[in-house]
Amino acid sequence: MSALGVFVAGTDTGIGKTWASCALLHALRDAGLDAVGMKPVASGSEATPQGLRNADALALQAASAPPQPDYAALNPVALAEPVSPHLAARAAGVEITLAPLRAAYASLGAGRDAVVVEGVGGWLAPLSDTLPASALPTGLGLPVILVVGLRLGCLNHAQLSARAILADGCALLGWIGNAIDPTMARLDDNLDTLCRLLPAPCLGVLDYAPDGDPATQAPALARAVAALRARGARSR
Ligand SMILES: Nc1ncnc2c1ncn2[C@@H]1O[C@H](COP(=O)(O)OP(=O)(O)OP(=O)(O)O)[C@@H](O)[C@H]1O
Ligand SMILES: [Mg+2]
Repeated sequence: MSALGVFVAGTDTGIGKTWASCALLHALRDAGLDAVGMKPVASGSEATPQGLRNADALALQAASAPPQPDYAALNPVALAEPVSPHLAARAAGVEITLAPLRAAYASLGAGRDAVVVEGVGGWLAPLSDTLPASALPTGLGLPVILVVGLRLGCLNHAQLSARAILADGCALLGWIGNAIDPTMARLDDNLDTLCRLLPAPCLGVLDYAPDGDPATQAPALARAVAALRARGARSR
């Protein structure tokens, strides 16, 4: 049986995709599922004696249970430069294509209950001159959870992202609000507005938690786990 997969998209870069993905991995683990994280493509990676290592992928690796010791299995494309993946790939002489990422996803998910795949940047961030980041969920056939970084402008960014996800033919399971800005005015009113405007349910809201442990946020994602389980039951 293939693993239950989900693609974690975001309204932008730096809005909490990694934070939410790690919290979701903990929530899945708390629900008794073997869940592994994946960052198929990462730019901004550090050179180490073991090779290039990206902070997002390391965080996903740490939140995976049982552990996934093979780093390259969860981050097949690690690029050094902290810029758009298509530019980092060009600088590294790498052409990002879908087939090897599909194979890596299939082998990572073998024997697992769930795979949480973190996207890169926003929905249309370029991976190459011809491949947008949205090719990952469409190419892997994954439903999407949209992380909305709760800050001024998010009502627009969230609606645009949701429209693009649906226009690309993906299933939008729901959205997670992530309180990245502790100074955001009218947080509750903005959450109410997102509930009204977005065409999919709210699957949880994550608190502002600087230097926090994503495991503490797992209980807030019970609805996300239930949505994934329901999706798995439907596709069986
Ligand atoms: N709920 C939160 N409370 C406090 N800090 C947060 C929260 N969510 C995210 N952050 C911080 O905001 C920064 C960006 O978060 P994160 O790395 O998860 O974003 P991202 O969308 O995955 O970014 P990228 O596009 O680089 O992958 C990080 O420093 C993270 O620790
Ligand atoms: Mg990230």
